[in-house]
Amino acid sequence: MGKGIFLGGGVEPIRAADIRAWREAVILLRDRGVGGFRQHRNHLLWLDTAVQCDAAMHRSACCCGERARWGSLTWKGQFWNRGVGMRVWAIGLLVMALASPAGAQDLSWAYPPAVTPPPVDPATPLRVAGSAAQFTVGDIDNYFKAMDWFPSEHPPMPEVPLAVGRPPELRACAVCHLPNGAGHPESSNLAGQSVAYITRQMAAFAHDERASARTKLMTATAKAADEHDVAVAAAYFAALPPVNVSRVEEASMVPRTVVGAGAMRFVDPAGGTEPLGQRIIVVPMDGAAAAARDMHAGFISYVPPGSVAKGAAIAAGKGTDDPLACATCHGAGLRGSEIAPILRGQHPVYVFRQLNDMKTGKRSGGQTALMAAVLAGLDTESMIALAAYVGSLQP
Ligand code: HEC
Ligand code: HEC
Repeated sequence: MGKGIFLGGGVEPIRAADIRAWREAVILLRDRGVGGFRQHRNHLLWLDTAVQCDAAMHRSACCCGERARWGSLTWKGQFWNRGVGMRVWAIGLLVMALASPAGAQDLSWAYPPAVTPPPVDPATPLRVAGSAAQFTVGDIDNYFKAMDWFPSEHPPMPEVPLAVGRPPELRACAVCHLPNGAGHPESSNLAGQSVAYITRQMAAFAHDERASARTKLMTATAKAADEHDVAVAAAYFAALPPVNVSRVEEASMVPRTVVGAGAMRFVDPAGGTEPLGQRIIVVPMDGAAAAARDMHAGFISYVPPGSVAKGAAIAAGKGTDDPLACATCHGAGLRGSEIAPILRGQHPVYVFRQLNDMKTGKRSGGQTALMAAVLAGLDTESMIALAAYVGSLQP
């Protein structure tokens, strides 16, 4: 069998274009002369060097052990050419990867299940503050009609794929990501993300490389999008000014919540509080406005006391020379770079989900290999802290 680099425990070949993109990112880092980079070269240069992985590297715990723990990369030439013993060993490590400590904890707070709301007459009219537009309750669940409450506050939205999409599967992007790109904590904030990043993620969804609890409709939408649709959507979101609609609040006690329509959490009308523990609990500042997909609606993200400062310290790493400091790849101020997306002002619970999904292998593909060395050092608490910190940053 020929040599090759395989993803997800050797089941899915990486496309040639991905390997090129990874190489470019690694070369870019090297050209910038990031100090201390060599110290982590087995991680960061892994893809670059995989085809030359020599005997010394095979024996190194860092090369084999770490990689297996991330569960993201397998060098086919290494695992398959060495006989049954090696295969059994490889499978053992992959099983360990699946049973990672993050997966063993109860993280259901980050992945609330979709709930079917009690029926309301779909013709019931809806209004939101400050808008002359009128929509109905039925429009909330219509994936082919974005509720554009403030059309003068964003650039003209192309009908396909932004405002109305194309039935049966190309849902209108602005229904979930909203006309200003801010999205909801259940989806994601796309405002100002680069064309390259958005394009890459659409491909990742279409190739089932982001297969987490919240990706079903996004995946179906991405599969239905052609190259032109992706280009139009990416250009639209990339041109929007970055926005942060979350207010991060540190608290040990938080309002009791119920999960409602669209898997969104609302303050429990029955009242009461409960301990937050190690969770991020998000509630809309105005539940009715958020449910009506009002792009002005803000959210409060409750995070454990001390998380923002703890997250800032982890993000900074060991200083500007640390290749694992978030800004190395995500750019100064975490405003995004040619390599990696904007983190500043993203919904904290979304950020947590992505870190956890990448760590557990539910999100792979794209350039997630560059995150492997970062994730190897993060436990659930650290990921919560990082999510709190980046979510607290204003554009
Ligand atoms: C039904 C709701 C829905 C619609 C419609 C929708 N998305 Fe999404 N989108 C989501 C959700 C939910 C996620 C987050 C998935 C996850 O947790 O990984 C997401 C994530 C994304 C991401 C990844 C963001 C990141 O930071 O990595 C991109 C890019 C994206 N969507 C683009 C689009 C485009 C373009 C369209 C229109 C063609 C679209 N979406 C339509 C729900 C939707
Ligand atoms: C070596 C480069 C590198 C470093 C260092 C790095 N990242 Fe990333 N990160 C990336 C790349 C590349 C992606 C995009 C992956 C893809 O293509 O899907 C990414 C994606 C992410 C995402 C998903 C964002 C989204 O919109 O879905 C999060 C969250 C994230 N990184 C957090 C962090 C944090 C927090 C740190 C610091 C503790 C960090 N990263 C350090 C390269 C890096």
